This record gives sequence, structure tokens and C-alpha cells, in this order.
Amino acid sequence: MTATNRQITLAARPVGLPKETDFRLIESPMPEPAPGEILVRSLFLSVDPYMRARMGEGPNYADPVGIGDVMVGEVVGEVVESNNPRFSEGTLVAGLLGWQEYAVTDGSDLRPVLTGEAPISTALHVLGMAGLTAYVGLLDICQAREGDTVVVSAAAGAVGSIVGQIARIHGCRVIGIAGSDSKVEFIVKELGFDGGFNYKTTEHYTRRLAELCPDGIDVYFDNVGGSITDAVFPLLRLGARIGICGQISQYNLEKPELGPRLLAYLIIKRARIQGFLVTDHFDRYPQATAELGAWMASGRLKVREQIADGLEKAPAAFIGMLQGANTGKQLVRIAEHE
Ligand SMILES: NC(=O)c1ccc[n+]([C@@H]2O[C@H](COP(=O)([O-])OP(=O)(O)OC[C@H]3O[C@@H](n4cnc5c(N)ncnc54)[C@H](OP(=O)(O)O)[C@@H]3O)[C@@H](O)[C@H]2O)c1
Repeated sequence: MTATNRQITLAARPVGLPKETDFRLIESPMPEPAPGEILVRSLFLSVDPYMRARMGEGPNYADPVGIGDVMVGEVVGEVVESNNPRFSEGTLVAGLLGWQEYAVTDGSDLRPVLTGEAPISTALHVLGMAGLTAYVGLLDICQAREGDTVVVSAAAGAVGSIVGQIARIHGCRVIGIAGSDSKVEFIVKELGFDGGFNYKTTEHYTRRLAELCPDGIDVYFDNVGGSITDAVFPLLRLGARIGICGQISQYNLEKPELGPRLLAYLIIKRARIQGFLVTDHFDRYPQATAELGAWMASGRLKVREQIADGLEKAPAAFIGMLQGANTGKQLVRIAEHE
């Protein structure tokens, strides 16, 4: 075991898109578990859009990361030393252990890694937060049902790619919006979406959506906000549901973007719009992961991972994800699982 722990801390609050210099790679002494604690060796780190908000000081649902503090992040790791009878050495765990090679914890916030035949990394996406977000957002918040036309934005990403596939499994017609031709090809040809378009090369979003959804839109699963979301409102069907999952097009803006005022469409179509946070829905985790795991095992649900190697690559992987460099789930491999 090395005598030092490598960690990535927040060096500066970003202005606009984060830069690699907003992070600092430091070496600190290897932490030692006190009685009741365990030492966890990180194997995979998840990089996620919510981290952008935690780097700033603005109002949010969770406290910002302090300057000089280890960046917040979810990790799958292995218990390598245990002073806690609940955990034996070699146990795999997942939890918010941060951007670092080793972490000490009393284990109270950890969950077991129950990925079965699937790779352990899936505990950080389809069998973790992204999967639960997609499942709860689509089925509970948006109440998607057979025959609905569902539109999802950031459709080739971790959450969006699962949303579209759950919708297909439930007998919906699914259209995805993504940022490159290869992503559109991925969601249609590999994941079985009914259609999609590249918002970076499409001039008139509402017109393109109207071609792809001739009967209108019953469910919009919003991951991005901004002008993509604006384009959906005129096409809502009677009783439509909009789930506000994310607004990634706005996360790096220094000033809020002003948009058209579209709420009248909600009146005309008796439509409902609701924001949600996955952290309020952990009671649905057992059912969601059981179903998602079964769909994956039977080949009905496909996942793609994009893996950067080494803790030092985490800032670039995170910044790349914010700009759409990922297809599927962006992860960082911190160490090999032996
Ligand atoms: N409410 C919750 O509890 C909850 C939980 C998890 C995630 N989320 C939200 O869900 C969304 C997706 O998260 P994820 O983890 O699955 O990330 P992801 O989709 O795997 O990665 C983010 C994607 O956002 C797209 N993007 C970036 N800037 C954009 C822009 N200006 N306009 C349109 N698309 C843009 C990029 O794809 P393109 O190439 O298509 O642009 C990028 O790949 C995020 O908004 C996140 O904040 C919410």
C-alpha cells in the first residue's frame, strides 16, 4: 500500500465552463481508520453535472465544496482495512467518498454494490443514481404509459439513454435530442429509439420535432433546458407531463438566460410540469435496480461507458462531459479491481 493518498481539491470557483486549473491534485498522508471506521480504496469515480453547481457559491440543494476541500463525488471502492464489524476486507461499497484514491468513513452512508453479473462500475450509473433518476423521473414524475410519445433531451447521456430505453420497454414512442450525428445514430440504431436529431446542426427545433412527433408530445423528460425545452411547449398534447430533471445548458452561464414565456401552453393543454431530485426517491431504489438489472441481463437495456484512466484525468473527464464529449456514462477508473 502506498504511504500517500492522492486527492483532487477545488482550487478556484469556476467562471463559466470550469478549467483544469480550477482543480488541484495534491498528495496527503494515507488516512488511518479509527475504531468503528474503514479504509476504502477507490476503483471508479463518477463525474456528474451536479458537481458544477457544487463548485460555485450560488443557492443549491446542497452546500458548496469549500476551496481546498476534496471534490464531492460518488465512488465504487473496496474495503482494504476495517475497524467496523459491519464491513469485512474485500467488500465492495459505493458512496460519496470524493475525488481521491483512499477515504476513511464510518460506513453509515455507504451502500453495498449489488451488480450481480454486471460490471461493478454499473453501480455508478444504470444500477445507481442515473438509473434511479431515469426510472423515477419517467415512470413516477412523468407517468409515462403505453402509447405515449416521449421526448428526452441529452438523450445519449447517462440518464437520457436509460430514459429512452425504459420508455420503449413500456410501449412508448421515443424521440431523443443529442449533440452529434454519432450520438443520434447510437440512440436510434443501438438503443432502439424511434427517432432523434442533432440539435447542433438543426435550425428549427420545433419544426423538426413536429416532423418526428406528428401527433404531438405526451411526455418531455428535460435534461437540458434553454431553447431545446422551449421548442417542446408548442407541441404538447392534452394532459402532457414535463419532468424537469436537469438544465445543463444553463449550468455554465454567468447570467441567467431569458427565454420566451410559454406557460400558457400548460393551460391550453392542461399539462403538468414538475421538477424532481433523485435524492428524495431512495425508497424506489430496490425496485428500480431490480427492474433495470433484469432488463440489462435480458439484453433489453443497453449501457455504454466511457472511461478515463487515472485520478489525474478526472478534471478533464468532468469538463469534457459538461461539453458533450461522452456517449453513455462518463467514469474515471482510479484503480484496477484485483
Ligand atoms: N434531478 C436529479 O435528481 C438529477 C439526477 C441526475 C442527473 N440530473 C441531470 O440530468 C442531466 C443529465 O445528467 P447525466 O449525468 O446523465 O449527464 P450526461 O447526459 O451523461 O452528460 C451531460 C450531457 O449534457 C449534454 N449537454 C451539455 N451541454 C449542453 C447544452 N448546452 N445543451 C444541450 N445539451 C447539453 C451533453 O450531451 P450533448 O452532446 O447531447 O450535448 C452531455 O453529454 C443533467 O442536467 C443533470 O444535472 C438530475
